[in-house]
Amino acid sequence: RRGASPLHWDPDRGCWDVFSYDEVKRMLGDDETFSVDPRNASGFQPAGDQAFLLETMLFQDPPKHDRTRDVVDEFFRPSAVKSLEPFIAEESRRLVEEALAEREDDVIDVVDALAYPLPVIVIAKLLGVPAEDRDQFKQWSDTIVEGTAGEEEADAADLQQRQMEAGMALANYFRELVADRQENPAEDLVTRIVQADADLNETEILGFCMLLLIAGNITTTNLLTNAVRIFGEEAYWPAAGQRDTAIEEVLRYRAPVQSMTRVAREDLTIDGKRVEAGDTLVCWLGAANRDPAQFADPDTFVPDRRPNQHLGFGYGTHYCLGAPLARLEASVALRELGAEYEVTPAWGDDLDPIDSSFLHGVRSLPVR
Ligand code: HEM
Repeated sequence: RRGASPLHWDPDRGCWDVFSYDEVKRMLGDDETFSVDPRNASGFQPAGDQAFLLETMLFQDPPKHDRTRDVVDEFFRPSAVKSLEPFIAEESRRLVEEALAEREDDVIDVVDALAYPLPVIVIAKLLGVPAEDRDQFKQWSDTIVEGTAGEEEADAADLQQRQMEAGMALANYFRELVADRQENPAEDLVTRIVQADADLNETEILGFCMLLLIAGNITTTNLLTNAVRIFGEEAYWPAAGQRDTAIEEVLRYRAPVQSMTRVAREDLTIDGKRVEAGDTLVCWLGAANRDPAQFADPDTFVPDRRPNQHLGFGYGTHYCLGAPLARLEASVALRELGAEYEVTPAWGDDLDPIDSSFLHGVRSLPVR
């Protein structure tokens, strides 16, 4: 679909698709002209169950965005997340060992064994969820993302009901955790959020906790899974010094998040096309990451590609808050997985993709 123009109007979905690296980067980088708030889109329809997300930084434009993000920014800096490394390593080893102990026919599923459980364990720890509550916490969180990951797709109505219940249970849990940290401050993210100068109201506090869960879990699962998939396809496993560069190339070549949406704030002409204020623009990170005008040989996985200014974590004001954490998790988990044995593909031509145009990953990835 890239064709000759950087953007195309899709009459069926009623939005623009943006494919070129330069345009995607420009739109993500220009908050004056492009808004992240879907309420600015013409014909905006509120989707009830996700309403609280609208009160989070993901859908806020500056200056409000910057105030919210500042509350947690320091928790996610590379130097701060680095302290989680021993925990991530220990949990990765435990998960891999458990999977190896239970494996059948010498095969383990990377998604079930490691890529799926690890991120939620890490975010629970970061938030300050006590160890004894982590299993329950993980169950709620799993239910919320079910259908995009995990096993079978259940009956849609039943799933929706369970997801609503899990969402409410999780919100209640966060409410209690927040109340507890107001009384008993600790060295965790929830304490930081409740003590924030920004004076967040209850919806904002809950939104914060839910955002971290939603934004950080399935995305990191996909990064890990996509990495093992590509390394298997390429019959390659990065040595210690190559791992971080190879992970950047995974983020370019198989971006876990494929698109981000913006709304035009004013009438514009782009490449001779008339974009009106209120029009929705879908910025395709995955396409930008393979734009031949930006990357030589874009459809080839080059593990030591440098420079690699991919847009896998977005760009500009909303550049992924969790990028240092996701990078660290991927690096440590791959190290621990590779330390146990030589990972070789046990999958065939029938990989089952996640049912989403926005997320890129597979539901299951068997390896030997
Ligand atoms: C924002 C991707 C992991 C939290 C974003 C954006 C992208 C992205 C593309 C930009 C959104 C936009 O421009 O509208 C990813 C990928 C991940 C990942 C590919 C894993 C490989 C995480 C983790 C966390 C996280 C682990 C937190 C624990 C966030 C938050 C935002 C965000 C809070 C909103 C930032 C803002 O609006 O300023 N992420 N993410 N992400 N991500 Fe991530």
